[in-house]
Amino acid sequence: MKTVLSGIRPTGNLHLGNYYGAMVNFLKMQEENKCFFFIADWHALTTHPDPQLLNANVTNVLSEYLACGLDPEKATIYIQSDVPEIAELYLLLSMQAYVGELEKTVSFKEKARQNPDNVNAGLFTYPVLMAADILIHNADYVPVGKDQEQHLEMTRNYAKRFNYRYGVEYFKQPEAYNFGQELIKIPGLDGSGKMGKSEGNCIYLIDEPKVIEKKVKGALTDNGPEGRNTPKPDYIENLFTILKVVSTPEVLAYYDNLWNTGETKWYGNLKKQLAEDIIKVTTPIRERINAIKNDKDYLHKVQTKGMEKARESAGKVLRDVREIMGFKSF
Ligand code: TRP
Repeated sequence: MKTVLSGIRPTGNLHLGNYYGAMVNFLKMQEENKCFFFIADWHALTTHPDPQLLNANVTNVLSEYLACGLDPEKATIYIQSDVPEIAELYLLLSMQAYVGELEKTVSFKEKARQNPDNVNAGLFTYPVLMAADILIHNADYVPVGKDQEQHLEMTRNYAKRFNYRYGVEYFKQPEAYNFGQELIKIPGLDGSGKMGKSEGNCIYLIDEPKVIEKKVKGALTDNGPEGRNTPKPDYIENLFTILKVVSTPEVLAYYDNLWNTGETKWYGNLKKQLAEDIIKVTTPIRERINAIKNDKDYLHKVQTKGMEKARESAGKVLRDVREIMGFKSF
């Protein structure tokens, strides 16, 4: 069985793109692997979030993960700041991280350019903390987006250097977990290629039906096809892409056919159907999110159980690492 680790920074709510792009795959992943899902609240500190907001964001992500079906019995679901072993490994690994390399990290250069007044040391060593997150469980695979691949490569470098320096084969070389064919990319409603928080074009899992209707109604369209069997422009194709995941094949075929016959004036119906089917998918999830968020006892139980499981796994690795490095108790 492979160990898979996934981390998320608590910065907002999950949207339809996260659901189909990641969550649906996570549900399968947790059946087939030893999975760790954690909330990277230390990583969120680089921007100095207000404590209440940070706490609200952690509560949201945890509630949303559970509502989507991540199962604390099958996987280890925990909060980074509950596991002090990560901080110790971060210190130890920082000796394998060279300043010149950290300075060249794309994410660091970008953030430093965007916020020249807040180039703090935590931002600088962000990849080292991420490496500690991954190596503390000696993970085989990490599902990451393109923007995180360089961090994963740095993790492999620290692991290799550690092994080489101490003459051991201790750390594995964690690889990107590939969802392959199953990776579904949900586009935005504004004609852009991707649904994303920073793009401001998201349908959130917690959106009320009225909000979803309004957002879908506002999706970019035109006057309709300009003839029979013409290619769909991107922004229309996007609506069909979402329809494909939330609706039935019959519905999809029906609207595809309308497009191909070149008829016009059916976008209103398409949008109504699309909104209705999105609402069908999100309603049970939204109801669970709200119930879980208000169930502090349940959240406390999940947090405690996750912390215990994560610390047990992390403690083992850390004891080995200390021993390898020459820290021994008398
Ligand atoms: N850096 C990741 C992001 O911004 C979040 C993260 C932190 C992470 N630690 C991790 C992801 C460890 C995977 C593994 O998306």
